[in-house]
Amino acid sequence: MAKPIYVLNGPTLNMLGTREPEIYGTQTLADIEAMTAERATSLGHSIDFRQSNSEGQLVDWVLEGREQACGIILNGAAYTHTSVALMDAISASELPVVEVHISNIFKREEFRHHSFVSPVSLGVICGLGPIGYVLAVEALATHLDS
Ligand code: DQA
Repeated sequence: MAKPIYVLNGPTLNMLGTREPEIYGTQTLADIEAMTAERATSLGHSIDFRQSNSEGQLVDWVLEGREQACGIILNGAAYTHTSVALMDAISASELPVVEVHISNIFKREEFRHHSFVSPVSLGVICGLGPIGYVLAVEALATHLDS
């Protein structure tokens, strides 16, 4: 059995659909999971889609991925901008990571312009809305298959 792509979502992304729809749109996290899974399947991959509001839980999942996943798509949400722990876990995982943000973090407050995740990621997709998750699957699948 091939290993899945872990799709890990950080704090408050469980509120998508009702959370600041002018910034994040009206699709729910379940909607995003469905479209990401569909694209992954069409590319011959599977996903394991998770969300947590806890930094430690996200760190544990990234480290678990070292053995259990073939790559990670990560929307660390607010921890993107604060978490050295997440950065260290990604380095330790030795996995290709695609960082995703629904909103364009560079158009927003200055504190969102810095990411601890970007320097240890394969690439970053941001500002394109929920379709960014689908694009991340395509990019990761291309990387893994090459
Ligand atoms: C986000 C952007 C972050 O700055 C923010 O804290 C989030 C969501 C995004 O997907 O646009 O919670 O990661």
